[in-house]
Amino acid sequence: MRRHSGLLLAGLAAVALAAAPLPGQVRVASPDGRTSVTVQVTEGRLTYSLARDGRPLLLPSTLGFQFRGTPALRDGLRITDSTRQSHDEWWTQPWGEVARVHDYHNELAVSVEETAAPARRFTLRFRAFDDGVGFRYEFPRQPGLDAFEITDELTEFALADNARAWSIPSDRSRMDRSEMLYSSGPVSLLQRVQTPLTMETQDGHTYLVIHEADLEDYARMNLRGSCIECRTLQADLALMGDGVAVRGKTPFMTPWRTIQLADRVTDLSPSVLGLNLNPPNKLASTDWIHPMKYVGIWWGMHIGKMTWSSGPLHGATTENTKRYIDFAAANGFGGVLVEGWNTGWDGDWIKNRDAFSFTQAYPDYDLPAVAAYAKQRGVRLIVHNETSGGIQNYERQLDSAFALYHSLGLDAIKTGYVTDTIAGGHSHWSQIMVRHYRRVIEAAARDGIMVDVHEPLHDTGERRTWPNMMTREGSRGQEYNAWSGDGGNPPEHETILFFTRLIAGPMDYTPGIFDIMRDRSTGTAQRPDQPRVRTTLAKQLALYVVLYSPLQMAADLPENYEHQPAFQFVKDVAVDWDTTRVLDARIGDYVAVARRERGGQSWFIGAITDEEPRTLDVPLSFLMPGKRYIAEIYADGPKADWLTNPLPITITRRPVNSGTRLRVLLAPGGGQAIRIRPAP
Ligand code: NOJ
Ligand code: CA
Repeated sequence: MRRHSGLLLAGLAAVALAAAPLPGQVRVASPDGRTSVTVQVTEGRLTYSLARDGRPLLLPSTLGFQFRGTPALRDGLRITDSTRQSHDEWWTQPWGEVARVHDYHNELAVSVEETAAPARRFTLRFRAFDDGVGFRYEFPRQPGLDAFEITDELTEFALADNARAWSIPSDRSRMDRSEMLYSSGPVSLLQRVQTPLTMETQDGHTYLVIHEADLEDYARMNLRGSCIECRTLQADLALMGDGVAVRGKTPFMTPWRTIQLADRVTDLSPSVLGLNLNPPNKLASTDWIHPMKYVGIWWGMHIGKMTWSSGPLHGATTENTKRYIDFAAANGFGGVLVEGWNTGWDGDWIKNRDAFSFTQAYPDYDLPAVAAYAKQRGVRLIVHNETSGGIQNYERQLDSAFALYHSLGLDAIKTGYVTDTIAGGHSHWSQIMVRHYRRVIEAAARDGIMVDVHEPLHDTGERRTWPNMMTREGSRGQEYNAWSGDGGNPPEHETILFFTRLIAGPMDYTPGIFDIMRDRSTGTAQRPDQPRVRTTLAKQLALYVVLYSPLQMAADLPENYEHQPAFQFVKDVAVDWDTTRVLDARIGDYVAVARRERGGQSWFIGAITDEEPRTLDVPLSFLMPGKRYIAEIYADGPKADWLTNPLPITITRRPVNSGTRLRVLLAPGGGQAIRIRPAP
C-alpha cells in the first residue's frame, strides 16, 4: 500500500484538461486526469460538480440533510479546510469476475462547517478513480450533533445532459422489490427509480451509472426526479415506519454515492468501483468459500409439478433429494438446493411467516441422513431459508439454525424475503432491513456459511468485506418464465440486466432451462401471454457466461437434461474468473462476453441477442499468441427462433488461435456459447 501526494499522481494531463479552480473552489482529478470533481460553496450552499475531459457531466449539485427535530444541514455552510492523498494498490479477490483489482485513486477530503450555531461540522470525502467517482459524508463526534434522525438526504445528481436512462421504479406500490422489466427514457422524465441507474449521454460518448457502495447501517438509496421535466435526481432514502430514514450517533459515515463513468458501453463491466470503496476482507480464512454450480428442488415447484408444502407432491423428500444428489454427483455439480424442506410452508406461507422453523424438517425429509448422503457423494446441500419478510422470527433462530447446518457440514444457504409488508411498516429497504441483511451475512460467516439472497437489498459491494456474501437475486429472474402473468421475460431482458442490475454485482438468475416450450400440447404456436422461456436453447447456455454468479444454477429438472448434448456445456462452463472482457454490446440489443477461467487457460464466450437476429464479428485476439486452441461452439441451429422454434442447436468444434475471427450467428432471441481450451 502506498500513500503520497495526490498532486504527484494527478499528472500533467489533469492540469491540461481541467481549468484551474477558482478561489473558493477545491478540486480533485482522477489519476488519468480526465475526470474532475469541483466542490464549492455558493451563497452558503455546498455543491459538487463533475466533468470529464473538461465537459460537464454533473452541474453543481446540492449536498446536505434534513433532520427530524433539528434544522436542515444545507445553508450557511463554509469550507474550512481540505486535504488530499492518493492510493495505488492491487488487491486479489477470493473469487469474482476478475481476480485482480486496481484501486488507484486521488482523494480529497473537504471540511465543512455551519457559519452560525449550532455550527455543525462534517467532512465530505471524494475519491476520483479513472472509472468514476465516489463520495461520502463523515460526521465526527461533536456537541450539537450526537444522536440524530435523518428524514431526507439532499444529495443531488444534476445531470448536464438529458441522458437516456434504463430504469425500474422504486415506489412502494411495487412491494419494494426489484422484480420488474426495465424501461428506457430521458432522465428528465424519471420519477422514482432504483439504482444502479445506467445512463448514456445523447451523443453516445459517455455512460454513467449512479449507485452506492458500502451500505452498512443506513437506508438504501433510490433516486427521485427532484423537479418536473428537469435533469436533477435526488437521493431518495427508504424509510422506516415512522418516516425516519436513518437513526445514528456520531461519529457516523454515510455509504459512498458513486458515479461510474465509461466512454464505451463495453467498458462498464466488470465494474469494480463499488468494490474499491468497500473495506477489505474481514474473514481470517476464505479457504472454505467455493464458487460452484448447483441443481435443486426448485423449478418443479415453480411450474407446479412439486410443492413446497407437505402432501403428495412434496418436493423435498429424502428420496427425491437423493435423486438430485446423485444427479449432481454424476455431473460434477457442487451443490443441491432443497426448498420446502422445513416446516411452515403449509397454508399461506407469505402471510404465516412466523410459522417457519429453520431447524425442523418435514417428517418425510431426513435432514441429517440427506446431508450425510450428500457428503458421501461429494456434494453439499444448499439450505433454503424463506422468511417471508418475518425477520424477527428468522433472527430468533439464526444462531441455532446456522449451528445446526454447520454441525451437518453444510456451508451454503439461500434466503428469501417474499412479502409486501415488513412488520412496523418499514420499507423492505429501510435501515432496519439493512441491519438485518448484514446481521445474516455476519452470522453466516461465523459458522462458515455462504449466502445467496433472494428479494435482497441491492448489492453495494458487501462481498469484498464478507466474501461469503456470494450472490443474490434482486431482479426479474428466470422464475418469471414459469408463472408470470405477462408471459415471461422478453428476449431483450438479459441484454439490459447485464448493464443495469449486474453492474452492482453477481445475480442468481438461474439459467439453464432446456424444456423451453413446456406446454407441448399446444405445439409451437403459443399464446403470446403464456408463461414460457423466451430464448433459444443456445441462449440459455450463453447466459452462464453472460450473467455472472459465483453460485450458478442448472435450473431445470434433471430429466430434462437427459440425452441432451447441449448439457455438456453446462457441465463444462466455469464459475470463477481470472479475466472478463466485454467484446461487443448495445444495451437492450445484444452483448458478447469472454471470460478466462480462474487459474486455467480455458476461455468461455457467451453472446446473446434480443428479438433481432444478428451476426457478430468476434476476433479472438485475447488468446495467447502462438498457442493453439480448440473451440467448442454451441450455436443456434437452422431456423432457430425464440418464439416458434427455440430448440435447434448446432454443436461444432474447430481449431482457433489469437488470429481467428469468429462469425457469431445469433437467431432471433438467440445466443451462442463457446468453450475455448488449449489444444491437447
Ligand atoms: C422467491 C425466490 O426468488 C424463489 O427462488 C423461491 O423459490 C421462492 N421465493 C420461494 O422461497
Ligand atoms: Ca424472487
